[in-house]
Amino acid sequence: MTQELAGKTAFVAGGSSGINLGIAKRFAAAGAKVAIISRSPEKIEAAAKEVSAFGPCIGMAADVRDYAAIEAALKRTHDELGPIDIVLSGAAGNFVAPALGMSANGFKTVVDIDLIGTFNVLRASFEFLNRPGASLISITAGQAERASMFQAHVCAAKAGINMLTKCLALEWGPAGVRVNAISPGPIADTEGMARLAPTPEAEARVNSRNPMRRYGQKDEIADMAIFLSSEKAAYVNGAIIPVDGGSGAGDASGNALGNYAAVY
Ligand code: NAP
Ligand code: COA
Repeated sequence: MTQELAGKTAFVAGGSSGINLGIAKRFAAAGAKVAIISRSPEKIEAAAKEVSAFGPCIGMAADVRDYAAIEAALKRTHDELGPIDIVLSGAAGNFVAPALGMSANGFKTVVDIDLIGTFNVLRASFEFLNRPGASLISITAGQAERASMFQAHVCAAKAGINMLTKCLALEWGPAGVRVNAISPGPIADTEGMARLAPTPEAEARVNSRNPMRRYGQKDEIADMAIFLSSEKAAYVNGAIIPVDGGSGAGDASGNALGNYAAVY
């Protein structure tokens, strides 16, 4: 594998499982020294072991809702692995519930983890960055742009992440810090899709609406994260980049056309 990120230091928030762990492993395989954080000490210890198979990795338990804990984790990363070149903010929470089945605290919890957590991670990282040249990436979702039933909390939080990403890109671009977001489509073998499409029937419905007729793979998201972290993306800033097989472009199920869809 090419060492596109040789010598760089990466910090991955929410890196103990799923898409973010996939990205952390690929960062390490591409030559980066990697720090990962999440809430559970057990999960983060096991994940750090997995990442270490590809390159140097430290794992730390920290909650993105706790600014001081995030700042401490970033400082330790900076002190042990060097000034930080890449920050990926991907910690998130989700559950499926109608707005009327959601308490104020339920709504707030997801906004706190996804949106405030992303602000905390990106804001606290600034003083530990290798500037100019650092790349900051937030992880958003299609719910940011397409309203979805039973996802009011996630839709609101991820929409906020999109705008936060663009605002930071404007403010930090002059310091040589790029800020972009990746918007994954439905990704195979993830907690996110286990919650959103828990049955084979639900999975088939999701795929029927996607132009590529399949779930994406974690590696397909990691490829974009590596590109955004490389010199090849030096002029990419303030972008919200879908890696979703085209699901964000519209509904490709043809349902609206009825039998006419059989032509396809
Ligand atoms: P996942 O495996 O549940 O990943 C979430 C990660 O965040 C875990 O490492 C979790 O570890 C950590 N986390 C949760 N709350 C945290 C907190 N308060 N502080 C620190 N870490 C926290 O989920 P995933 O499905 O791979 O999703 C990863 C990202 O991709 C999310 O941002 C999600 O919105 C986005 N996304 C996913 C899909 C999909 O198809 N799965 C589609 C679009 C977007 P702990 O439990 O140890 O804290
Ligand atoms: N339906 C309605 N409300 C729910 C709920 C559900 N399925 N699950 C949790 N809540 C509510 C709780 O009742 C609580 O509100 P209350 O105090 O008014 O009762 C609030 O949400 C917080 O729950 P709690 O379990 O204390 O939060 P937490 O901070 O420990 O966990 C979650 C956060 C709820 C998002 C949890 O699902 C989680 O940790 N998720 C991480 C993994 C994940 O979601 N991965 C997919 C990423 S896309």
